[in-house]
Amino acid sequence: MLVYGAAGHTGRFVVQALRELGHAVLLAGRDLGKLHAAFPDAPADQLRVQGLGDAAALTRLLAESSLVVNCAGPFADSAPQLLQAALQAGVHYVDVSAEQPTAREVFGQWGERYAAAGLCAAPAAAFYGALGDLLATSVLGDWPDADAIEVHIALDSWHPTEGTRKTGQRNAGRHVVYANGQFQAPPAVAPRKTWAFAAPFGEQAVVGFSSADAVTIAHHVRVPDVPAWMNETPLTELRAADTPAPVAVDPSGRSAQRFLVEVVVRRGGEARRASASGQDIYAITGPLAAQAVGRILAAGGALTGALSAGQLGDARSFLQALALRYLQLDFGG
Ligand SMILES: NC(=O)c1ccc[n+]([C@@H]2O[C@H](COP(=O)([O-])OP(=O)(O)OC[C@H]3O[C@@H](n4cnc5c(N)ncnc54)[C@H](OP(=O)(O)O)[C@@H]3O)[C@@H](O)[C@H]2O)c1
Repeated sequence: MLVYGAAGHTGRFVVQALRELGHAVLLAGRDLGKLHAAFPDAPADQLRVQGLGDAAALTRLLAESSLVVNCAGPFADSAPQLLQAALQAGVHYVDVSAEQPTAREVFGQWGERYAAAGLCAAPAAAFYGALGDLLATSVLGDWPDADAIEVHIALDSWHPTEGTRKTGQRNAGRHVVYANGQFQAPPAVAPRKTWAFAAPFGEQAVVGFSSADAVTIAHHVRVPDVPAWMNETPLTELRAADTPAPVAVDPSGRSAQRFLVEVVVRRGGEARRASASGQDIYAITGPLAAQAVGRILAAGGALTGALSAGQLGDARSFLQALALRYLQLDFGG
């Protein structure tokens, strides 16, 4: 397995989670110094330095592995090159993008090519994109469709990384919402309401949020509306230029940030709910991506085309695999 962008904040969590599952990982990126700094104990033969500009060299690099995990964001600038190189090299592709346009391109433009090659492309296998999708898929159960799937996200803080800030700038004006069965520009004035989250968040003011979960859920669930909401405090922090980067508070590198994602699936007057909570949206992306990788490889070629996390086998067991160490789950009904 090869992780591209391995030295980034999120890349390091992904590498850590893959190693915990027993995978040997090639550590790749465009800057040898940053790879050395991030992985001081890694033997030289595990490091690979390659920019994205040389397609043939990138293809040769990816061919050293059976799967690439792309952690280099903004993904608008890395996904096209790595998707093409992975296809050429005949290897599966997973990314941790939160970018709606990138995920939509993977589902819309790359899926058929990957399927024809017997390969899998799994975008947004990360906090945004996977967690809401996995919760929704889990509780959908025997319902063949839904009237609406609501995703409510609460963070007690959001100290963004440099990659998050660059990604926000790169995707400005490119966000969408999924309503009335189609992707459309968000309303000029973002909708607001209050939402009673479980403890410790409680009642919060929330604002309409263009989440990657709308893209991953709408990709495979028959549902006309996937509104997503987030409490306002972290969004204010995200927008402020002086909000600091995340600081590690435990040996695994996690920050103190707490998250809670609550999903409500509505159909014919009934509602099913599920939630997941944990620590640090960047850190949880490691085990989410690693679980996606494990499932793709274990499927031995049975998972092909562009698939969201919720489509990588049974969604509930995907989440339960993370429950022991990383997530508190509630499928409370
Ligand atoms: N979906 C989610 O929930 C989720 C969760 C976590 C992160 N993310 C996304 O993951 C991305 C990375 O976040 P991060 O926190 O890890 O940021 P980061 O610490 O700044 O790391 C970004 C990494 O990507 C590399 N990179 C960026 N552009 C590149 C390019 N054009 N060519 C080669 N390498 C490139 C950087 O290399 P250099 O250091 O050489 O620039 C660095 O290794 C962001 O887009 C973020 O939104 C999404």
